Amino acid sequence: MDFKKVSWPALLILIAFIASAQDNLPVDYLSKEFHNSRREAFRKMMPEKSVAVIFAFPERTFSNDVTYFYHQNPDLYYLTGYKEPGAVLLLFKELQKNGDQSYNELFFVRSRDINRETWTGKRLGADGVKEKLGIAAAHDAKNFKDFPIDFKAFNTVLYDYIYNDAPDDGSGCDVFGLIESFKKKSGIIPLSVNDLKLNSNIANVQPEYLSRVIDYLKSSIAENDHLQHNIYIQRLMEKPDSITLREIQTAIKSKKNECGDFNKIMDALRQVKTPEELVLLRKAINISSAGHAEVIKAGHSAMSENEADGIHRYIHRYYGAEDEGYPLIVGAGKNGCVLHYQSNNALRLNNDLLLMDVGAEYHGYTADITRTLPANGKFSAEQKAIYQLVYRAQEEVFKLCKEGTRFSDLNKKASEVIAEGLLQLGIITSKEEAHTYYPHGCSHYLGLDVHDRGDYNILLENEVITVEPGIYIPEGSKCDKKWWNIGVRIEDDVLIKKDKCEILSGHLARKLEDVEKLAAQKSKFNEMKLPPL
Ligand code: GLY
Ligand code: MN
Repeated sequence: MDFKKVSWPALLILIAFIASAQDNLPVDYLSKEFHNSRREAFRKMMPEKSVAVIFAFPERTFSNDVTYFYHQNPDLYYLTGYKEPGAVLLLFKELQKNGDQSYNELFFVRSRDINRETWTGKRLGADGVKEKLGIAAAHDAKNFKDFPIDFKAFNTVLYDYIYNDAPDDGSGCDVFGLIESFKKKSGIIPLSVNDLKLNSNIANVQPEYLSRVIDYLKSSIAENDHLQHNIYIQRLMEKPDSITLREIQTAIKSKKNECGDFNKIMDALRQVKTPEELVLLRKAINISSAGHAEVIKAGHSAMSENEADGIHRYIHRYYGAEDEGYPLIVGAGKNGCVLHYQSNNALRLNNDLLLMDVGAEYHGYTADITRTLPANGKFSAEQKAIYQLVYRAQEEVFKLCKEGTRFSDLNKKASEVIAEGLLQLGIITSKEEAHTYYPHGCSHYLGLDVHDRGDYNILLENEVITVEPGIYIPEGSKCDKKWWNIGVRIEDDVLIKKDKCEILSGHLARKLEDVEKLAAQKSKFNEMKLPPL
């Protein structure tokens, strides 16, 4: 190679590539430049004289002294690429000064600890964050408590819900300790998730439903007595009239700015994907499609749900996906009628439909794909009728998937097609009943979260959404028994373009005939025989 002809940026990328390859690690993570550009974009949208505060997710207990596989807060990952707990990022709208230092961001990260690293592996520490993530203002989390930041000097402090239910390791610089320090330094007492949910319910209720609200609040308080301390609830219980309700609604709505517009900014940024993000999303989708295809081929009546689940996981790891973006849903027959079924423990698939809603997570980005197949390879007449109806609904929604469509129109279309079809099949007698068999929405944003951030308003170019109509007819439903225990969902991941869409998971068999054709093929897993235990 003639190095004289290689530009400096290309050379830097080459050096980074060689360095990562030497670490024996994947080399296709999001770049420092991506994360830096996201922090810049966030800063641009911040109001004057504001600071944003973003905490790492805490570790969670699995059993005794064992924690769950750690998953970073996607917002923090998006802005920094940091994958460890015990951190807090501060972004400032304006340049700050502290002595002779000036900065527009501060990142407090987990300390190095040689003892702990013997057990759980290398930590980046502040120096590693500077070097690997290119964040010059990295500090040890121990310094956050006494770092001179006067939160009260800002017009707005932007943050996400930070009710502190993190476990406390007593160090003062795990997530629990960092949140407590923030509360002390800022004087902010964040609302609990329950309070926030209740407040938003109260904020949106119409005065004619006041008596229902009061009943709802009474039952909420009975379940969770700390809600008695919610000032809005107290006021409404003392004076349950429509004037009080209106006063409270105004107060709640103005309080929304309590966490600034953090969620609004983050939603706006994360709902539109950059080219770098799309590379990872496509990879997650391709890996997941490979998993689905393999199970469709390998599936047979004597297979267990667990085994099908295991094939997905194996394929994900084989292709380098670290995790799944949500618990795998692998349910046959009646279990396929449970929307978020997670047990995956039925011993045989029998001659039922197997519904698999499974998405690999690759470098933070998750796919979300559902396929429904006949375990014995052939759809029965009833299974076929339901499958074709769901397929038709999905096809109709795809036609709407382009920039400018109202998000709510997607579900409206799916509901219309399904209601019409169920009526024709004699499963319902009025369109209003359709909701019983199709009780969820048709689409959501997809990205770092399976139900990703976004404003659910108008579709924009480079958003990725799911299209996932479904019909579920559990045993005991008010229709002919022949339909019972049929659950069908077909879910694909779609990239929105200016005047059309690209079905990113479209290469995976979806048409009924294609699913049957794929099911007739042999899988490598059919040859794998393990000895009985
Ligand atoms: N894949 C699960 C869901 O979309 O809710
Ligand atoms: Mn979904």
